[in-house]
Amino acid sequence: EIPRVTGVQTCALPICKMLSAVIAPLSWNAAALPASASARAGSRAAVDMREMLIAGNWKMNTLLPEAVSLAKEVAEAAKNSPCDVAVCAPLPYLTAVKDALKGSKVGLGAQDCYADADAGAFTGATSTAMLESVGCDYVLSGHSERRAIFGDSDEMVNAKTLKILKQGIKCILCIGELKEERESGETFNVLNTQLTKGLKGVDDKMMKEIVIAYEPVWAIGTGLTATPEVAQETHAYVRSWFTENYSDAIADNVIIQYGGSVNAENVDELMACPDIDGALVGGASLKGESFSAICNFKKK
Ligand code: PGA
Repeated sequence: EIPRVTGVQTCALPICKMLSAVIAPLSWNAAALPASASARAGSRAAVDMREMLIAGNWKMNTLLPEAVSLAKEVAEAAKNSPCDVAVCAPLPYLTAVKDALKGSKVGLGAQDCYADADAGAFTGATSTAMLESVGCDYVLSGHSERRAIFGDSDEMVNAKTLKILKQGIKCILCIGELKEERESGETFNVLNTQLTKGLKGVDDKMMKEIVIAYEPVWAIGTGLTATPEVAQETHAYVRSWFTENYSDAIADNVIIQYGGSVNAENVDELMACPDIDGALVGGASLKGESFSAICNFKKK
């Protein structure tokens, strides 16, 4: 039984008015939540307790030569980047991309895995042991496309998350609400459910290897980015969830990426939000130039 999110029934932020045509106001009061240390300090830069991570999610895109040259561009771009960088490449290219990233600080990620075995008669599946053996540092779990197209339930997402961690790989757990869910005021209940079920069995120590990617489904691949205000208030909710369900220290340290139509134009403003600790980037990660600009966002 997942407890419903309770709280004051009005949104305190003026941005809700501006967005109401597209995205309905959230039925909560940001001021009612325990503010994170960085939000209390008024800016992200003021409290540098956690790293930031920009990760590209190439999805089912690129052919081998393109993947390798893109990886080389990312390796170059990461040299001056103010944060950690990773690319989640398609499975057939992981080894080649790993080679192309050699000597750089760019981490390698996979986009999915099989949770129930390390090897055996599971045609088409890829185990976390295999991913570790080719040098993956990260694996995504619960991406909305896995949930919507491939039917990954919260229970499957949880099993994958636990398996990835058990393998000693960092897990980027993706959560996010549908447009209808935001419009009907269900955003925080949806996120609460996804976090509660997705992180079942993940203890304080394991939390060090978890990255959260908050990706509103209505913003993925649509060009409709959440405004920094809407993204920040949702990230503040997610961080407060960790305060309530884990501890202040874990809430202060967990990396919460934003995802959904992040591009070179909107990245600086999004990354300036106190509770946004990086980005998971789809479309704009497929071009060296735009992803380089995103990795080298200007700190405000
Ligand atoms: P997008 O995808 O940047 O193309 O919206 C983000 C994601 O799905 O991770």
